[in-house]
Amino acid sequence: MGVSNPLLPRVATVVDIIRETGDVNTFRVVFDDLEEMAAWNHRPGQVAMLSVFGVGEATFCLSSSPTCRDWLEFSVRRAGKVTTALHELEPGAKVGVRGPYGNSFPYEAMRGKHLLVIGGGIGLAPLRPLVNFMLAPENRKDYGKIEIIYGGRSYNDLCYKEELFRTWPEAPDVTVWTTIDVAEEAWQGHVGFVPAYVEEVKPTPEDKFVVICGPPIMIKFTVKALENLGFAADHIYTTLEMRMKCGIGKCGRCNVGARFVCRDGPVFSLTELNQLPQEY
Ligand SMILES: Cc1cc2nc3c(=O)[nH]c(=O)nc-3n(C[C@H](O)[C@H](O)[C@H](O)COP(=O)(O)OP(=O)(O)OC[C@H]3O[C@@H](n4cnc5c(N)ncnc54)[C@H](O)[C@@H]3O)c2cc1C
Ligand code: FES
Repeated sequence: MGVSNPLLPRVATVVDIIRETGDVNTFRVVFDDLEEMAAWNHRPGQVAMLSVFGVGEATFCLSSSPTCRDWLEFSVRRAGKVTTALHELEPGAKVGVRGPYGNSFPYEAMRGKHLLVIGGGIGLAPLRPLVNFMLAPENRKDYGKIEIIYGGRSYNDLCYKEELFRTWPEAPDVTVWTTIDVAEEAWQGHVGFVPAYVEEVKPTPEDKFVVICGPPIMIKFTVKALENLGFAADHIYTTLEMRMKCGIGKCGRCNVGARFVCRDGPVFSLTELNQLPQEY
């Protein structure tokens, strides 16, 4: 059954809460109306508004793959009013969901190409659906090799550890490089910031798209590293997190220059970003 008022949330139940890091939980939710669940479709990179009744709503990217038909996932970092209320929920709690909103990563243009994924901290959340979409058995033949370079402040700050250390590295034609900012006794892997690791790994640009998300400083230096390695601006994509209210292009809250992040984004190529005022 469709929802006619775009501002009216669908009611959903939190069926599981996965603790990713000290301040990030992944909320797995299922619509109470199973017809709404079956009718839901999002594309990798899209966002939705998640509400805690009586508290408010906030924007989150869908961190589950569109190919997962059983539930939706949102990975939420505790930041303020709504996110703290979400973190206080227990499985069985009701939440509201509206969306999906915005554009997506250009997964059609990426067919037949390789993908380089670069994430920092919770920045892996919007990139994860694209990886899992491409790895789904029905889509895998359409895409080339997948390389993932991901970093966090510490081991405990890395999200999606099961996928990062088991599912993805074990998948054919997938390579994962993980790094943490500062050495830890039990950590055998790489130590250092993501942009420096990108320079070390030296990915090649041929037939490859890049998707990046993480703290602005990480994105800034990673883009410089990629440009030095010969990647073209129109093959580098990122996703913006300007504050949103309506999510449907009506309130004017999320604009960057003449573009609305909720309607024209949140995914932009570096070519597009280079044409926007530097307000993001
Ligand atoms: C397109 C988009 C995608 C997002 N995806 C995710 C996601 O997947 N996971 C996630 O945890 N968060 C995500 N966010 C950020 C999330 O929406 C904010 O953390 C949330 O709105 C905070 O709500 P709150 O009521 O808990 O905090 P508030 O009480 O409103 O604010 C707490 C503090 O956080 C700051 N803040 C709030 N929103 C933002 C923002 N968008 N950018 C920077 N600072 C902010 C406030 O200025 C304040 O300092 C996304 C935001 C956008 C716009
Ligand atoms: S959030 Fe209202 S116009 Fe974008």
